[in-house]
Amino acid sequence: MRSFTSVVAAVAAVLPFGFANLQPSHKSNDMNPSSYKSVRVLQTDVVVVGGGGVGTYAAIQLEDIGKKIVVIESKIRLGGHTETFIDPESKLPVDVGVKLYHDKPIVHEWFTRFNLSTTRFNVSAAAAVSQNVDFWTGQVLKGIPAANQTALAAALQRYAAVLQKYPQLECGFYLPDPVPEDLYMPFGQFVQKYDIADAVQFIFGLTSAFGDILELPTLQQFRTLSLGLMATTSNFQTSSVMDNSLLFEKATAELLAADSLLLSSKVLATERVNDSGAVKILIDTPKGRTLVIAKKLLMTTPPVSSALTKFDTNRDELSIFGQFQAVGYYTSIIRNAGPVNITFQNLALDKPYALAPMPAIYNVNPIGVNPSLSLLYYGTKVGQVISDEQAKANIIADLKRYQAANCMADTNPEFVAFSNHSPYNMLVGSEATTKGFYKQLYALQGKRNTFWSGAAWRAHDSSSSWAFTKNSVLPALVASLGSSESEWGLMSSTSALWVAVFVRGTVSAN
Ligand SMILES: Cc1cc2nc3c(=O)[nH]c(=O)nc-3n(C[C@H](O)[C@H](O)[C@H](O)COP(=O)(O)OP(=O)(O)OC[C@H]3O[C@@H](n4cnc5c(N)ncnc54)[C@H](O)[C@@H]3O)c2cc1C
Ligand SMILES: *[C@@H]1O[C@H](CO)[C@@H](O)[C@H](O)[C@H]1NC(C)=O
Ligand SMILES: *[C@@H]1O[C@H](CO)[C@@H](O)[C@H](O)[C@H]1NC(C)=O
Ligand SMILES: *[C@@H]1O[C@H](CO)[C@@H](O)[C@H](O)[C@H]1NC(C)=O
Ligand SMILES: *[C@@H]1O[C@H](CO)[C@@H](O)[C@H](O)[C@H]1NC(C)=O
Ligand SMILES: *[C@@H]1O[C@H](CO)[C@@H](O)[C@H](O)[C@H]1NC(C)=O
Repeated sequence: MRSFTSVVAAVAAVLPFGFANLQPSHKSNDMNPSSYKSVRVLQTDVVVVGGGGVGTYAAIQLEDIGKKIVVIESKIRLGGHTETFIDPESKLPVDVGVKLYHDKPIVHEWFTRFNLSTTRFNVSAAAAVSQNVDFWTGQVLKGIPAANQTALAAALQRYAAVLQKYPQLECGFYLPDPVPEDLYMPFGQFVQKYDIADAVQFIFGLTSAFGDILELPTLQQFRTLSLGLMATTSNFQTSSVMDNSLLFEKATAELLAADSLLLSSKVLATERVNDSGAVKILIDTPKGRTLVIAKKLLMTTPPVSSALTKFDTNRDELSIFGQFQAVGYYTSIIRNAGPVNITFQNLALDKPYALAPMPAIYNVNPIGVNPSLSLLYYGTKVGQVISDEQAKANIIADLKRYQAANCMADTNPEFVAFSNHSPYNMLVGSEATTKGFYKQLYALQGKRNTFWSGAAWRAHDSSSSWAFTKNSVLPALVASLGSSESEWGLMSSTSALWVAVFVRGTVSAN
């Protein structure tokens, strides 16, 4: 008879990676409800993973039609890219993330839902004196003529005329088959084809942080700079109290009161396909392990393969999500960035359309309420995500180069706040676009009890992403809840059994 140790050694040799963790990980991913106290098992209609702009929107819509939901958010707060900095001196809020919305009923209804309102964003009030800087050399660029507004408007009209041929793109990635060349050609080529050079800087400013836009498929401009967004550029809406996080604070209070929100919580494992017809998702929460049992899962986090390692992803999902690329995008509040009350715009006159090569500062803006502070946007090329330390070091080096090149005293710029929004603007290249990537992506909807939404599925435009969620995701999700009535009947009887097990489990615990 072999000794115990030799059996262990043999197993270890077969499972060199798995063995060490086999026992603990099996235990830690226990998906059996009877292993948990009843308060740590939540039964719900829909479990929403990710409580950013889209997850919060979807959760409240579902709640409002009487569905039971649980939202799982890894951070300590809802809102995702919506971030509001409270200036410690004036105590006034400054939106440093999501801020502008379309002037559309869907936006007004969403704010009204929380007794909040939006107001027209006053572009002229927000505009500061602007200085063009080449941050690569640090030089201030003088004598650049202001944009020719007539030429800009005409170029935008030519852009819109092409976009108008594809009205279905306003609703999402509903591409004609075969995909027309205008949609997958690099945007730089599109600019030449339709003579829209005069609008490139403007477009870059609106769809900021998309990196090397000239190399990306034109579709990646269309998805964000949609007809809807173009129609709203002179009529942007923003929080009427200049605090876009307020809505999320109200949603948080409401969801917490209904026991429908798990903050600071991490997904440990999922079991999305099971003969019981339910999704099981094991969560590490500040109150302990919690098992959520739902009819359906709505994923709203960026579908990066690395972030999905805890999910029971299948080959289809991984091969689709594995094709995504993204940029690095970082926002920061800097003290003593340089001269106050001036916006610095990064330009590279030696590059096409003066677009600065990434990684680079996009621009540096005074925050108004406190002249010693600036809001700085920094970004990388597609496929290039750098560490926070690297981004911070690059930002400081750029500011110091600017100061040195213009014979200014070193102001010792320092970070008051820093936020990493990467991976940002998930996209695929021309080849995947022509090969039906978006058709395959959308075909995942509803499969394996899982629905998907968020910016990756539509655009980094809240208004468009809410509309996509409302019109293209929730109807099928809600229908799937209803149509699986028989499954739910089965579930209920199963859960009655589970409840009995919990009670016994709880009693017999310890
Ligand atoms: C600096 C900045 C400014 C912007 N300004 C605007 C603007 O003015 N107007 C506009 O319309 N759009 C703006 N956008 C675009 C914005 O990204 C989208 O409009 C919208 O916020 C996207 O919502 P989302 O829910 O898809 O993503 P997010 O808001 O990022 O939400 C995703 C959520 O999922 C959470 N999460 C991630 N992984 C997990 C996990 N494993 N488990 C649990 N939770 C997880 C995240 O913490 C986050 O809360 C801006 C974006 C940035 C970065
Ligand atoms: C909005 O105001 C109404 C009337 O005062 C109140 O009944 C409701 O609870 C409020 N809703 C929210 C989300 O604050
Ligand atoms: C917008 O701001 C400018 C400059 O501060 C101001 O003159 C103008 O009246 C404002 N417009 C509105 C509609 O508030
Ligand atoms: C602005 O552009 C228009 C249209 O291209 C052109 O006719 C006009 O001459 C330009 N104005 C200046 C000042 O360059
Ligand atoms: C479904 O889940 C139960 C309990 O968690 C498990 O025993 C069973 O093997 C699962 N069935 C399938 C088909 O995965
Ligand atoms: C900067 O602007 C603020 C108001 O926004 C003003 O109070 C301050 O005097 C300005 N500072 C300089 C140096 O122009």
